[in-house]
Amino acid sequence: MRMLVIGGGGREHAIVWALKKSEKVKELFCAPGNAGIAQLAECVPIAVSEFDELVRFAKDASIDLVFVGPDDPLADGIVDAFEAAGIPAFGPNKKAAAIEGSKIFMKDLLKKYNIPTAKYETFTDYESALSYLREQSAPIVIKADGLAAGKGVTVAATMEEAEKALREAMVDKVFGEAGNQIVIEEFLEGQEMSILAFVDGETVKPMVPAQDHKPIFDGDKGPNTGGMGTYTPLPHIDPAIIEEAIQNIVIPTAKAMVSEGRPFRGVLFAGLMITKDGPKTIEFNARMGDPETQVVLPRLKTELVDIVLAAMNGRLADMDIEWSDEAAVCVVLASEGYPASYPKGRVITGLAEAEAQGALVFHAGTAMKDGQFATAGGRVLGIVGLGADIAEARGRAYEAASVVQFEGKQNRSDIAAKALL
Ligand code: AMP
Ligand code: GLY
Repeated sequence: MRMLVIGGGGREHAIVWALKKSEKVKELFCAPGNAGIAQLAECVPIAVSEFDELVRFAKDASIDLVFVGPDDPLADGIVDAFEAAGIPAFGPNKKAAAIEGSKIFMKDLLKKYNIPTAKYETFTDYESALSYLREQSAPIVIKADGLAAGKGVTVAATMEEAEKALREAMVDKVFGEAGNQIVIEEFLEGQEMSILAFVDGETVKPMVPAQDHKPIFDGDKGPNTGGMGTYTPLPHIDPAIIEEAIQNIVIPTAKAMVSEGRPFRGVLFAGLMITKDGPKTIEFNARMGDPETQVVLPRLKTELVDIVLAAMNGRLADMDIEWSDEAAVCVVLASEGYPASYPKGRVITGLAEAEAQGALVFHAGTAMKDGQFATAGGRVLGIVGLGADIAEARGRAYEAASVVQFEGKQNRSDIAAKALL
């Protein structure tokens, strides 16, 4: 098979790495890829938003199957574009990707089908939003409706902070169009957990659960990022709670999408809060998580390409998906200044040493500069340690992370610490 992966971050590096393990995958391309992906696949310099060019490339290169990584092109209908050209693409079409592309669509869907989520109200007008907000109390959550690179959510500890977030989204338009509509939502207290699942219509095949760390600093302080580190499994969470989340949230949502005439095919990713009243939905994503993918795929024993083919051929229900019992911890190394603006082009050293220690090194924002790896993004690398348990995997991830250097490198030092308690 000749495959094309769309995207160029750490998630896509892990996807390419997993696909590459299969004998079936003879040729692998990635658009646009990054310097790490280029070691495994042929990178094609086409942006993920250039649908016409991507389709033309896929036709010219006789691509048999496309795997779409990121959220933006899915929300904009990249799968529809490939399908219109007769090229099979794994991922939800535009109508199904709305579960991530519009928080209001998602919230209304969950309400209609009685699927547990935080209480909320939606607004298109600043004055009404502000007067509603003033009747509420902190902590409270303000969300831009559309995609905002994972940064459109403010968990406000005070009413001042909440009013500022509302003003920035609706009046100052810091998220552009994504802030035309907003959701004001109840604050949910508890442990967070992510469940990713391969989905084809009503068939749901959950992956092993993982947990992300969104804020930039230790102790969950500072602004939210795309994700600073992940781990799997979640030994501190009762397996019964995980099963409850699959039965009460993930499966009913897949069914609801079918009932709405928007059957979902791809990876459905539920971001959940385990509250004292059980698991509740924070968000749905229509794709694999980044950096959840970097810890989940190393535990996948079944070939990823076989699962994708089964989903594409309506045979996912017959698939027995196997996972290893190992633990995996991913520590993200980010650029100085991230999640605000950051410099690029800083030389990275120590990658070979980290790999020689047995760590997996997934590139997120890297490029080649004068024959050396250099930084080219906010999140630069994901260093994954594997081990018999979280403590061992975590030790290995941090040991390998410490030998990788670039000027201004920042990483959290408490990834997976919660799982050790
Ligand atoms: P989202 O982009 O919707 O995943 O939100 C980003 C992060 O904000 C989540 O991972 C949570 O940590 C936090 N968050 C979002 N909604 C809520 C909520 N209703 N209550 C508490 N925390 C939330
Ligand atoms: N790690 C969270 C996300 O991919 O949205």
